[in-house]
Amino acid sequence: MTKIALVTGASRGIGRAIAIALAETGIVVAVHYNNSSDLALDTVNTIVGKGGTAFTIQGDVSKLTGIDKLYQELDSQLTERFGENKFDILVNNAGALAFATIEETNEETFDEIVAVNLKAPFFIIKKALSRLRDGGRIINISSGVTRVAFPTYAIYAPTKGALNTLTMLLAKQLGERGITVNAIEPGLTQTDMVKQLKISEELTNSVVSVTALGRIGQPQDIADVAAFIASDKSRWITGQIIDAGGGFHL
Ligand SMILES: NC(=O)c1ccc[n+]([C@@H]2O[C@H](COP(=O)([O-])OP(=O)(O)OC[C@H]3O[C@@H](n4cnc5c(N)ncnc54)[C@H](OP(=O)(O)O)[C@@H]3O)[C@@H](O)[C@H]2O)c1
Repeated sequence: MTKIALVTGASRGIGRAIAIALAETGIVVAVHYNNSSDLALDTVNTIVGKGGTAFTIQGDVSKLTGIDKLYQELDSQLTERFGENKFDILVNNAGALAFATIEETNEETFDEIVAVNLKAPFFIIKKALSRLRDGGRIINISSGVTRVAFPTYAIYAPTKGALNTLTMLLAKQLGERGITVNAIEPGLTQTDMVKQLKISEELTNSVVSVTALGRIGQPQDIADVAAFIASDKSRWITGQIIDAGGGFHL
């Protein structure tokens, strides 16, 4: 039976690479985006160009209304193509970064980062539960900053820590349905999220110096791990926080 995945934030960066990697294994992919419609379409065209199947869906996941829109579009695409709105794999990848200490973080930034990185996966999963098939997968994209103390990620890191806790408790709850729930923790990875930082080059050099494999990550490094977790080969792994950072701060 054809497997179907929803990948949030698949217009760019890690999400795009995950969408393409899943499609390469024969999975039909819903490529979700918020603002980058052209880039999301490019992800779909790349997948189709390689012989896969994908379509775009839009929604600002920082708001429940945006999450409802995402599911309206997903339900309609799935029902049209497959006669029902069920899917198999949810990848919570969309995320937002604030490079700020506690002193530099105001209420607006706090609310934005919590909304995209924690509230969104929480409610996307909640609304996925009736749609996900038994035996499915939930993959949450967390971050290596949960296990090393970086004062400059004062609100970003705690949202990812909370996502890890959510991953563990849902793995326990959903085990009886054969649904595995895991988180992947990328280390510093070459995407727009990193390029937006003024100290991008300085940060890259400092990360490389404490990374066993001696470089920063590429989106494909994370996508290959996600493709494994999405596959049947990972069936005995659940509730795990999987580090994918090339040996960062060992
Ligand atoms: N890059 C790193 O070094 C790194 C390290 C550890 C963890 N991570 C995590 O990996 C994930 C992907 O990061 P990335 O570096 O690939 O990020 P990115 O290049 O900045 O892309 C972010 C993606 O999230 C989507 N997005 C952001 N806010 C959204 C919102 N309110 N509603 C819907 N979609 C939204 C964007 O959609 P649009 O462009 O369409 O608006 C885009 O597709 C994130 O969860 C991030 O925290 C990244």
